[in-house]
Amino acid sequence: MNYFQYQNQALYCEEASVEQIAREVGTPLYLYSHRTLRQHFRVFSEAFAEVPHIICFAVKSCSNTAILRIFAREGGGVDLVSGGELYRALKAGVDPSKMVYSGVGKREDEIDLALRAGILMFNVESFQELETIDARAGVLGLRAGIGLRVNPDVDPGTHAHISTGLKENKFGINVEGSLLAYRHAAKLKNVDIKGVSCHIGSQVTKMAPFIDALGRLKELIRRLREEGIAIHYLDLGGGLGITYNQETPPHPSEYARAIIDASGEMDCTFIFEPGRVIVGNAGILVTRVLYTKENEGKRFAIVDAGMNDLVRPGMYGSFHQIQPVIQRGQEEITMDVVGPICESGDFLAKGRRMPAVERGELLAVMSAGAYGFSMSSNYNSRPRIPEILARDDRWYVIRKRENCEDLVRGEEIPDFLNT
Ligand code: LLP
Repeated sequence: MNYFQYQNQALYCEEASVEQIAREVGTPLYLYSHRTLRQHFRVFSEAFAEVPHIICFAVKSCSNTAILRIFAREGGGVDLVSGGELYRALKAGVDPSKMVYSGVGKREDEIDLALRAGILMFNVESFQELETIDARAGVLGLRAGIGLRVNPDVDPGTHAHISTGLKENKFGINVEGSLLAYRHAAKLKNVDIKGVSCHIGSQVTKMAPFIDALGRLKELIRRLREEGIAIHYLDLGGGLGITYNQETPPHPSEYARAIIDASGEMDCTFIFEPGRVIVGNAGILVTRVLYTKENEGKRFAIVDAGMNDLVRPGMYGSFHQIQPVIQRGQEEITMDVVGPICESGDFLAKGRRMPAVERGELLAVMSAGAYGFSMSSNYNSRPRIPEILARDDRWYVIRKRENCEDLVRGEEIPDFLNT
């Protein structure tokens, strides 16, 4: 069910009018549907109902504490990649015993925070990291739950920048190397081996790469168990794709069916780290057309949201559907939808066939809930935009718009420049 729908030619998020929200909070803004977020989480989790599992939402995809709270209340955990994400998750009330911590570059202070919080496990990405976690746990007098992030060397068939499970990628430890690392971990004083993890990439739209990776992890778990190394958690990462345009990714229920069938009797609790599939289609970016112009036959709509607000088109060439907030039955034309930033990479759409737009008109950039606000920046000294959560016919500011003071917070002009 899609909760971004037109009623009398006007776009609504649930029962809240997008135009009215834009009028009251100004543009640009991110707008999420509470019902969609909750439903996507439930559909994903219920798809795995027949096996023990924890859904560890990938915080990086959408990090607002109000949104993390929604999933925490549904019984979810989180996948973290920094001390900052840990802070957010704790603030949102996520249970630390449902937190996993991934990432190739965990700092000692971040490791300490996670140890003190009592997270379920570190997904360890190198031998040196393993040693560091053991040492820090020793210093703090705590136990560290660990799993190794295995690089299964499968091609997820996705954009090169977001594929992570190939041997040339920086992520994880290869299968043979991880056997050695597990044997080493078994001898360390302060770590408890808990699981095995992998994450092969993002926006994956086929089942085969997931099943290939699962096969390799299963074999590794078998070998570990033969050696007396107990494995209780199997973390298959995130990565399930969504429909931005014409993609036809497996539905979460298909994804779950195939994984459950291929795993057989694993005697493990499954962990999943979905991000995009939960939040991607639960959020939109609302922007206003500042100007339109034509250069030698090429038409542009210049809008008030830029690549600092939504970097995906400029960074990956990603497609996001763009729709008028109020449908006026305009004829379709071809144009570029561009932002105000001084970079040619600052566009939301290129050569797009869409209804002609006018100055002042509102546009909705669809499927912007994942890696939208969370990748936004202050580039060109643009205050970051607000995040709004709609629930039924009401809406809530879950992050207010930044102002110019926010932009210079923490900056200082040294004394020698004052004389
Ligand atoms: N787990 C780990 C260890 C990850 O690195 C990621 C994403 C996820 C889970 C969640 O993946 P998802 O279910 O959302 O596909 N900025 C890019 C995507 C980068 C993904 C990074 N890792 C984009 O906008 O497409």
